[in-house]
Amino acid sequence: MCGIVGYTGKQSAQDVLLAGLKHMEYRGYDSAGIALVANDELVTYKKAGKLNNLQQVLANENVPLSNCGIGHTRWATHGAPNDLNAHPHLDEANKIAIIHNGIIENFAQLRTELTANGVKLQSETDTEVVAHLLAAELKNSELDLVAAMRLVCRRLSGAFTLVAISAANPNLIVGARRNSPLVVGLGDGENFLASDVSAFIAYTKNALELGQDQVVEITRDSVKVTDFSGNEVAPKPFTVTWDAAAAEKGGFELFMLKEIADQPKAISDTLLGRINDSQIQLTELAELKSALISAEHILILACGTALHAGLIAKYAFETWTQIPTSVEFASEFRYRDPVIAANTLCIVISQSGETMDTLMALRHAKAGGAKVVAVCNTQVATIARESDAVLYTHAGPEIAVASTKAFLTQIVALYLIGWQIATLKGHKSGSETAQFVTELSALPAAVDLVLDTVEDVRNLARELAEKQSVLFIGRGVGYGVALEGALKLKELAYMHAEGFPAGELKHGPIALVEDQLLIIVIVPSPTQQQILHEKIISNIQEVRARGGLILAIAVEDDHIIDEFANFVVRVPHLNALLQPIASVIPLQVFACEMATARGHDVDQPRNLAKSVTVE
Ligand code: F6R
Repeated sequence: MCGIVGYTGKQSAQDVLLAGLKHMEYRGYDSAGIALVANDELVTYKKAGKLNNLQQVLANENVPLSNCGIGHTRWATHGAPNDLNAHPHLDEANKIAIIHNGIIENFAQLRTELTANGVKLQSETDTEVVAHLLAAELKNSELDLVAAMRLVCRRLSGAFTLVAISAANPNLIVGARRNSPLVVGLGDGENFLASDVSAFIAYTKNALELGQDQVVEITRDSVKVTDFSGNEVAPKPFTVTWDAAAAEKGGFELFMLKEIADQPKAISDTLLGRINDSQIQLTELAELKSALISAEHILILACGTALHAGLIAKYAFETWTQIPTSVEFASEFRYRDPVIAANTLCIVISQSGETMDTLMALRHAKAGGAKVVAVCNTQVATIARESDAVLYTHAGPEIAVASTKAFLTQIVALYLIGWQIATLKGHKSGSETAQFVTELSALPAAVDLVLDTVEDVRNLARELAEKQSVLFIGRGVGYGVALEGALKLKELAYMHAEGFPAGELKHGPIALVEDQLLIIVIVPSPTQQQILHEKIISNIQEVRARGGLILAIAVEDDHIIDEFANFVVRVPHLNALLQPIASVIPLQVFACEMATARGHDVDQPRNLAKSVTVE
């Protein structure tokens, strides 16, 4: 939430910052702003709304040339999304500019203190206090910006990434982090700070990971990291594996459409190196082998789409491992009194690896004695670092706010973990694994086949674009797909959409059914899941008897369904547990097209941000 970028080097800072913000706009798009150091002064430009608005402002200004500056794209927490509350924020003398991601929880108290000292705050944000606190520290001439930042950070509570520049240091940028992300990009005669690597992968793949409660100072030729007490620490270097081109639209109208199309490759990349000689090998989990063998409970924690991947994996875990598996909203977990039994294996799932709800739940599970495995997509993210082991989904950068390829790869990664546990516990033979590996390896081709139907689904969505409400029903793993289809429709098309286990309809929600209400049904295979298929046909009948309109997502050889559905979208027939990988894709496309037909911004839906770094 909120994207941050800092640049010092030889290029035009304005150009580098705007390019970086373009790649981080998915983190928030309530306002955007930059501050540059030029001629020993700070110049700041900021504007409410998307980055385009700021770009228009800049086009009409005589922006001085600068090689050092900071940029921010905001997801509003404290204060309305207007020009005044846009970052960067300045001290009263306009000598220090600050940008922030996170929430400073004690800001009200700090604000009162500053006001009592005669400081006039300009905005309603929690961030602005930091600019004034830095200025107050810098009145002590013994201190420089870095030392002032350390002192100020020690006074803050909450989650923050802060990045500051000052007119007095034209080549220096100072950053600090606690519970919010910040990475360093190492260039040749230039250096970068950013919320994530997508802001600088066009310039360098060499990066440094920053730990908790650390302050970093960069100039064009140097990087130094200290803790909040000033002790120097050695940051961990890493090489960015994402390709710069992967963060571009690559000829598609929308990032979301591109990311839907990326799914076959994302799945193959996630399987790559993890299958050897028809067996699954997860070297990442080697050190947890004894915890996996002794696991008696599996606890899956995640939010949103990642939670739906967990709900689907639960069916596979229990079938394969015979270990009771529970799936919990990460946002609720630590605010009740969860019983974390001995030998609990906790699996946290997060595309961004920075979701605060998931991070806090992870810490709670760990403190309760659970071993934690993370399924993450973003390298060196906090959740990955704080877990005992991490299995990366190699989906590449996911820029559209609505998650698509991350979801499919999360299911694949979870299935690899589930199968590995089942094998370690002696529930799976070599030949069963070889069969499963064949099925996994066939997934990219199956997804390709589903992608051939994209245009048909888009047409169908346009035909149904006037609907105001849609229900989704499924059974077994199809329930998780129903939830995911409903979430996609809500967040993109701003429609009432709800997912239910099909059998639950008659316990209440069926009261919503009226003439022409659209119900999307995830239909289980008639051959592999005959009983569930029969049951769902009954559920369809109950809805049709009340005038409901049925859109069925059914496997290719299900001819029974034709008689009961108004519309049928066919998907390849897979192993029942793998079926969600195919069934969810038409729902992604459907939501995307519904949103487009209604004139909404698909890649940046209102009120949302991709990386939710506040609780
Ligand atoms: C929906 C969506 C969100 C995320 C959720 C968790 O399309 O993207 O529901 O799945 O905010 O995010 P991560 O996976 O980054 O923890």
